[in-house]
Amino acid sequence: MSAARRRLTTDGPPRLRGGGQAGDFRAVSLPAHDCDLLRDLLLAERARTVVEIGLAYGASALAIGEALGPSGRHWAIDPFQKSAYDDVGWEAMTAAGLEKTTTLVREDSSVALPRLLHDGLRVDAAFVDGSHRFHEVFVDLYYLRKIVRPGGVIVLDDDVPPVQAALRYYVTNLGWTEIPSASPWRCTAIRLPDMLTEPSYEDFTPF
Ligand SMILES: C[S@@+](CC[C@H](N)C(=O)[O-])C[C@H]1O[C@@H](n2cnc3c(N)ncnc32)[C@H](O)[C@@H]1O
Repeated sequence: MSAARRRLTTDGPPRLRGGGQAGDFRAVSLPAHDCDLLRDLLLAERARTVVEIGLAYGASALAIGEALGPSGRHWAIDPFQKSAYDDVGWEAMTAAGLEKTTTLVREDSSVALPRLLHDGLRVDAAFVDGSHRFHEVFVDLYYLRKIVRPGGVIVLDDDVPPVQAALRYYVTNLGWTEIPSASPWRCTAIRLPDMLTEPSYEDFTPF
């Protein structure tokens, strides 16, 4: 674990959302063990480029930065980094020197992803932990399917039913497969098919 992530895990962030709701850092952040597994998966996949949705206090972003190292590229999308988090996650990234390799996109993912796709962005992997509303996760996955390269990886923090339901559509209908984890975690890692193909609407399977 990097020094920056150890500090955040041990001491917590310097400021809390909304002026200090006790326990908010733990409630919001991917736990350290899951961050380790996310980092290890990205390392095993040799991912060089990652899109992340949901920066918050920066716990998962620091783990992604650890996996990518100084030659990787990371896009972190979060419309509420300033208004809700007072930029504390971005400060953690900057303190770790990761602002050089990371682009913070201060927009809703539903706005940012289609633009990034249109601009030609293609990445090896994505981490989805932004809005947990069904329709917003469904849209995130719609665009990530085209932004993440064929055969690439999408990891979701999917411990709530709307996220699980959105993911189920893609697994049931579009050939997405779960990557088994060596150790239990609260995320699901998905491997995209080797080719991006569009099914017939007649082949729809209720999910
Ligand atoms: C659960 S937190 C992410 C925690 C972070 N992954 C971590 O482990 O440190 C959810 C984040 O998603 C952001 N968010 C909410 N709605 C969003 C949207 N529509 N697009 C992008 N990010 C969104 C919130 O501002 C918040 O920072």
